[in-house]
Amino acid sequence: MGILGFGVDIGGSGIKGAVVDLEAGVLATERYKVLTPQPSTPAAVGYACAEVVAHFGWQGPLGCTFPAVVQNGVARTAANVDQSWIGTNIEKVMSAATGLAVTAVNDADAAGIAESYWGAAKGTRGLVIVVTLGTGIGTALIYDGVLVPNSELGHIELDGEDYETRASAAARERESLSWEKWAKRLQRYFTALEAYLRPNLFVVGGGVSRRAEKFVPLLSLDTPIIPAKFQNEAGIAGAAYLASDLGPAAFEVTTQQP
Ligand code: BGC
Repeated sequence: MGILGFGVDIGGSGIKGAVVDLEAGVLATERYKVLTPQPSTPAAVGYACAEVVAHFGWQGPLGCTFPAVVQNGVARTAANVDQSWIGTNIEKVMSAATGLAVTAVNDADAAGIAESYWGAAKGTRGLVIVVTLGTGIGTALIYDGVLVPNSELGHIELDGEDYETRASAAARERESLSWEKWAKRLQRYFTALEAYLRPNLFVVGGGVSRRAEKFVPLLSLDTPIIPAKFQNEAGIAGAAYLASDLGPAAFEVTTQQP
């Protein structure tokens, strides 16, 4: 086994963690999951994360994803978590709860790192857009392997609506949409991203990507679009990488403020 890291993925419904083999780019253990406390306040989420870390007895740097804009460790938005997170230093909260050194990163950005370093986008030059379909829609922009963080393209407004509310995996479930009806909304969404950004590749992640054959073939785009390799595990792997000694150089360049 190679160099190990640890990642925790904080989502709107679950908090999952695992040990990651950073050289092979695979999870080295099963994931351990607890439900996201409701309300998902900083103190409650910190406690839940500490439980996940304690399950493995992990001692070392901790990579932590967060489902919102994360700038220098601070949450700037809170679309699917408690509003009291806005302005909260995630790294400090998690560090106090676990006793570990913590690096916090937007969840889709962590997934984008994993997919471009080890996964579906490995070796693709130019612009790759990783789109995670879950409770919300997360996006990661990676250009020649370098992350441009906090792109937040899940919230682009189309037809007068924040499109995450129309096209996320949660919207499909909430409205009991058939795969065909949901794919029409995804078509609208990906066509807009393609028109604005012309990437070389789209990678579709999130838990629903394990059923990619149900909806990806229904999409008609000029840009190749493929399922994520890590499906729902990319956040854990990417965050573990960024928190490790291997990661910071690539990450700090893109997150420092002027
Ligand atoms: C948030 C993003 C996040 C995405 C997926 C969106 O609502 O604004 O920051 O990446 O959900 O969790």
